[in-house]
Amino acid sequence: MEHGVSRIGVVGAGQMGGGIAQVAAVSGFGAVVHDASAEALDRAKALHEKLLNRAVEKERMTRDEADAALARISYAPSLDGLAGCDWVVEAIVEDLAVKRELFGRLAQMFTDDRVALASNTSSISITALAAAANDAAPRVVGMHFFNPVPVMKLVEVIRGVQTADEIVARTVALAEAMGKTPLKANDRAGFVSNRVLMPMINEAFRAWMEGVAEPEAIDGIMTLGCNHPMGPLRLADFIGLDTCEHIMNVLHRELGEARFAPCPLLRQLVAAGRLGDKTGRGVYDHSKR
Ligand SMILES: NC(=O)c1ccc[n+]([C@@H]2O[C@H](COP(=O)([O-])OP(=O)(O)OC[C@H]3O[C@@H](n4cnc5c(N)ncnc54)[C@H](O)[C@@H]3O)[C@@H](O)[C@H]2O)c1
Repeated sequence: MEHGVSRIGVVGAGQMGGGIAQVAAVSGFGAVVHDASAEALDRAKALHEKLLNRAVEKERMTRDEADAALARISYAPSLDGLAGCDWVVEAIVEDLAVKRELFGRLAQMFTDDRVALASNTSSISITALAAAANDAAPRVVGMHFFNPVPVMKLVEVIRGVQTADEIVARTVALAEAMGKTPLKANDRAGFVSNRVLMPMINEAFRAWMEGVAEPEAIDGIMTLGCNHPMGPLRLADFIGLDTCEHIMNVLHRELGEARFAPCPLLRQLVAAGRLGDKTGRGVYDHSKR
């Protein structure tokens, strides 16, 4: 199946949206990035320049290739700047009400049946987002990139209840054209990645809380014994303990089983403001790094 895409609109210029736009441009697509915050757009532009300059220094691409990729990205202070795009990827804040409002607007803006409205959400139901897109519901699909987007190979492709087969097939083709490996999952809480990963991280907090071992030992056992590149508690700091708690809450609420309840120690560290790398302290102290 051909993806039939030449210009990708990205809503949200944060960590994920910025990365998605960069990968799109490096893969030869036009990319238009919109963010509600002008500072976020400026930061994304500066980061694109820095990362592509670094790629030239490291001889991963030529100066001409980097310049051509940068020239393919434009930055739109208004959502209307996405007009003319033939595919949209949403990567805004993980908030159902805010995302639903955006999908309602996108459905009004993009009436062409060929334009997919994809979401990069990690934990929100694609089916619920599609419902907010009314007639455009069959074009709403999950396109779940991983952080950092330029490095991580996977795109989890999520089929909502209403998603059309053709849109799923074109999402797979587009992800491949972006140099990624797409794998399909159905729209159940956490999809596959967070459904399997987050309970493991949560269990590591339980093991620590129960005194089974100290964090260094828990992480060392999982890296050296299970060949994980990073231990679960170190990974929790990287992801953000607040994000881990949020995703466990979603799994617990949606799947309704006690085993998905966030570990009390995880909740307590979040309440203490120890959110991980981003606040300088989580499970570990990162302030001196
Ligand atoms: N960070 C990760 O590791 C990761 C991984 C996979 C998926 N995700 C998902 O990707 C999405 C974005 O996450 P992020 O980490 O990039 O967040 P982020 O906070 O870095 O960026 C979000 C951006 O969205 C903008 N925004 C908020 N509301 C908006 C609106 N209505 N219109 C336009 N822009 C708006 C904000 O100004 C901000 O710049 C979330 O749905 C998240 O669950 C995140």
